[in-house]
Amino acid sequence: MKKLILIFFMASILLSQEMETGEVFDKEKYERGKGLFSGEIIFKNKGTPCISCHDIKGVFSFGGGKFGPGLEDAFENYGEDGLLMALSDIPFPAMLPIYKYKPLDSTEIEDIVYFLKNVKKEERQNNLFVPVLFGVILIFSLPLLIWRNRTYGVRRNLLKGGK
Ligand code: HEC
Repeated sequence: MKKLILIFFMASILLSQEMETGEVFDKEKYERGKGLFSGEIIFKNKGTPCISCHDIKGVFSFGGGKFGPGLEDAFENYGEDGLLMALSDIPFPAMLPIYKYKPLDSTEIEDIVYFLKNVKKEERQNNLFVPVLFGVILIFSLPLLIWRNRTYGVRRNLLKGGK
C-alpha cells in the first residue's frame, strides 16, 4: 500500500507540472507555427522555412540549420512584441534578402511567435517522456505485484485441500 501511495504521488506531481501555467494552450496555432517554422507548411509567399538556418534545441530530432543562432531562447530575449516586430520589419542582414521579396504574412508571423513562445513546453515534455513512461509501466505492473501473493495463497489452499 505504501508503494501505491508513493506512485500516485509521483504521478500527480508530473501531472501538475503540466497544468502550472493555467493559460489555455492553443495547440492548433502552435502546430501551425511549428509547421511553418519547419517547412511542413509552405509560406504564402514561398519564403524559406526558418529551420533551414535555425535550430531549436530539444524540439526537432534531426536538428535545424546552423547558419543562424538557435532560437530556443528567442522569446526570452526579444519578448512577444520584439519578435512580432523583428519578423514584420526584419533587421537581420542575413534574413533580409529572402523575406524582403517573399514577405511573411501577419498571421504566419503570429503563429511562429506563438510557437516560439511555447516551445519550452514541448522541450520539457520531451524531457519528461522517459520518466512518465517509467511511471506508467510501474502503475500497470502494480496489480501483478499485489496479486502475486494472493494467487499464491489460493494455490496453497488448493494444494492443501487436494491432499
Ligand atoms: C537564410 C538563413 C535564415 C533564414 C531562412 C531565417 N533566418 Fe533568422 N537569422 C539568420 C541569421 C544568420 C541570424 C543572425 C543575425 C544576422 O546575422 O542577420 C538570424 C537571426 C534571427 C533571430 C534573432 C536571434 C538572436 O538570438 O538574436 C530571430 C528571432 C530569427 N532569426 C528568426 C527567424 C525566423 C522566425 C525565421 C523563419 C521565418 C528565420 N529566422 C529564417 C538566418 C536565417
